[in-house]
Amino acid sequence: MTILIKSGTLITAEETKVADILIEDEKILAVGADLEVEAQQVYDASGLLVMPGGIDPHVHLDLPMFGTVSSDDHYTGQKAAAFGGTTTVLDFVPQDLPTLRENITTWRQKADPRAAVDYGLHMNITRLTSEIKQEIPELVKEGITSVKVFMAYNGRLRLMDGEIFEVMRIAKNHGLLTMLHAENGDVIDILVAEALASGKTSPEWHARTRPAEGAVEAVLRGAALAMQAGGAPLYIVHMNAAGEVDQLKYVRQKGYPVMGETCPQYLFFTEEHLKREDGAKWVCSPPMRQVSDNMRLWEGLADGTIQTIGTDHCPFFYNGEQAIMYEGKWVKIPGKELGRDDFTKIPNGLPGIQDRLPVMWTNAVHNGYLTANQFVALTSTNPARIFGLYPKKGSLLPGADADIQIWDPKREVEYGVALSHQRTDYNLYEGWHLVGYPITVYLRGKQIVHEGEWKGQAGQGKYQYREPYAQIL
Ligand code: URP
Ligand code: ZN
Ligand code: ZN
Repeated sequence: MTILIKSGTLITAEETKVADILIEDEKILAVGADLEVEAQQVYDASGLLVMPGGIDPHVHLDLPMFGTVSSDDHYTGQKAAAFGGTTTVLDFVPQDLPTLRENITTWRQKADPRAAVDYGLHMNITRLTSEIKQEIPELVKEGITSVKVFMAYNGRLRLMDGEIFEVMRIAKNHGLLTMLHAENGDVIDILVAEALASGKTSPEWHARTRPAEGAVEAVLRGAALAMQAGGAPLYIVHMNAAGEVDQLKYVRQKGYPVMGETCPQYLFFTEEHLKREDGAKWVCSPPMRQVSDNMRLWEGLADGTIQTIGTDHCPFFYNGEQAIMYEGKWVKIPGKELGRDDFTKIPNGLPGIQDRLPVMWTNAVHNGYLTANQFVALTSTNPARIFGLYPKKGSLLPGADADIQIWDPKREVEYGVALSHQRTDYNLYEGWHLVGYPITVYLRGKQIVHEGEWKGQAGQGKYQYREPYAQIL
């Protein structure tokens, strides 16, 4: 099958130009002005924007947590991603079973038949034994070239600094990237215990017991550990605080191979949202901070200190006692109500996999803060480069997968739960007026979304074997 996308305004991380794209089967065959070719299908993209499919480097689908599970599985979450212009997502494998391999096999068994877009996996390392140390290099054969370690969630996910150092050293020696959850688990535990003991159980205490300073020192500590591990590449996930950006800038200026990711929720919301009656909707870890933190994160995106925008999509129902209709069926999954009387029992996480690109386009590009090329770099090309998928993903180069999002820059929508395919009962951006919206999405040459209609199916997404020794930006 050949498809000609004609006369679109192509936006890549590097340039903007009017050109045609010829797709043959799953790949981009040619890109150029006025291609003289016959194609089986022609898509007139004049006046429209044509970009590589978005890559979300940070999602949690079907993740068990706090006695429930994140409410999007690998089908519903990835379908929602596609409606927002994202064609590849990177999900995390929890380390629950004895060997890494068993965890990966189990995770793929549930993800592969459901995948609606292409996806890859990061491996959480939350328990380090000599066997696990030996197994980490084997991840490359599974196509996994990044591991996540945690400085918080004591007794559950956290590794001690020495263990993090060891993971980083092994990762560096085998071309893997270490991803860091930067918070101070010890301080959090003390503050949480004190808050509960004095009857402070409302959602705002989620933020008040996870101070920004802990995140800030954890970024510097992580960078220092990475350097002691021989200059191990490091990626700070879900950056949320101004001081983290300062630390990242500082270590990057020193030449350390450290990169950063932030997420839309940290750009738009603050801990004030947790004080609302429905504040549990905004509970995620790390928490949202202050307006000054929002501003510094925006600066970090604009000046290149931060490399990617992910979502940390980890949705829960706000009221999991009430069913919602999803694809013609009633669905109800326990959610934020589990923590009605105790903030420590509110499942941590938010929806965002579909929202990311439309919300960022309006507020970053349409409003003139970032260029369209920066938008593509931050949301597609940089994640592809950093996570060993480039140029197959994140580019519009001949030979790349034909993962393409086509936007109408003039389309205006009132965004919110009614437009969202995320399987939850609320949307953080309810009622936001957006200008510019994805109208057509191709996954490896197959049109899967067009004008609000889903043309895809579960299982069409392909697992991505990612390259080790990926680029350090
Ligand atoms: O609240 C969040 N972000 N839940 C997901 C776990 C994590 O640390 O990314
Ligand atoms: Zn995390
Ligand atoms: Zn996460």
